[in-house]
Amino acid sequence: MGIRAKFIIMIIVLSLLAALAIGYASYVLSHQNTIVDAKSKAEMLFNYIEASGTFFGRYQKPLIDELVTDKDKFIPELMSMFVVKRMEYDLFSEAQKGYQFKQATIDPLWPDNKADADELKIIQYFASNPTAQSKDGIVEKGGEQFFFTAKPVRIEKDFCLNCHGDPATAPKDQLDIYGTDHGYNWKIDDTVGASMLYVAISPALDRAHKTAMKIFLMGIGCLLVIIGCIWVYLDRGVVGPIVRLSEAAKDISIGNNLCDSVHSDVKDEIGVLANSIDRMRISVNKLLKRSCPDRKQE
Ligand code: HEC
Repeated sequence: MGIRAKFIIMIIVLSLLAALAIGYASYVLSHQNTIVDAKSKAEMLFNYIEASGTFFGRYQKPLIDELVTDKDKFIPELMSMFVVKRMEYDLFSEAQKGYQFKQATIDPLWPDNKADADELKIIQYFASNPTAQSKDGIVEKGGEQFFFTAKPVRIEKDFCLNCHGDPATAPKDQLDIYGTDHGYNWKIDDTVGASMLYVAISPALDRAHKTAMKIFLMGIGCLLVIIGCIWVYLDRGVVGPIVRLSEAAKDISIGNNLCDSVHSDVKDEIGVLANSIDRMRISVNKLLKRSCPDRKQE
């Protein structure tokens, strides 16, 4: 295999490795950025939802309790923080796509709050780790990938059991709306659910994938241009002159063309080689005592 082919193969292999490494690094970095971005969005939205719930519990609920003294009276939109958060979020999601908020619960009053298999595992995690306050991760739902942040819902206050304890003591209006089968008989310290905030990351991951592919293809394009340039350079600057010099050396070795100078003014290794061969030509000529027309001697 000639020098040119060896050199080109080496360049191709190294450049392919470089293009692959750069493409892969770009994918990994974009992937990490997507997660960091999703995490900060989830945190911001979650904090807002929590603040809205806290506002309800701290400022509105005591006033409502003062106004509504009948224990059986229950207006969900006015009296349940979980209803307020759910309905507020539903309105928010009409304008803002790409997020999902769910108060995933093992045995909920509101059927849509029922935890799915992945959410049950997270609730289980919070149940076995009572000090854990949040959990992040990535999950696939309906073929799409989501980053999620979860926070546990634990029954820490007795008043929760006014509505989620024995159905016999729950407000009658609540029983009329939600029935008596689910969402009751919870106990103090139970981990009953987890507030889940999902951020869709599939579109960003697709973009990261496409960018990495583009970078790889651009690398291949540059590689082809570089190989073309190297090929032309090797042909004109290295391989061509070496082939000509080797033919001249072969001629000199058998005493042919001893008057054809191969002198070179180029100051590189090939120029040095050409001038050495030329000196050899002159020496052979002198040894054979031949003479050339002046112009061709040196
Ligand atoms: C005044 C009655 C009432 C009280 C008190 C109450 N809840 Fe609820 N809770 C409800 C109702 C009604 C829902 C149904 C929400 C909906 O329709 O989305 C609910 C929903 C929930 C959910 C979502 C799952 C589900 O059942 O649909 C959780 C979790 C929850 N409550 C936990 C608590 C905790 C913890 C407390 C105490 C801090 C508490 N609740 C106090 C009435 C109450």
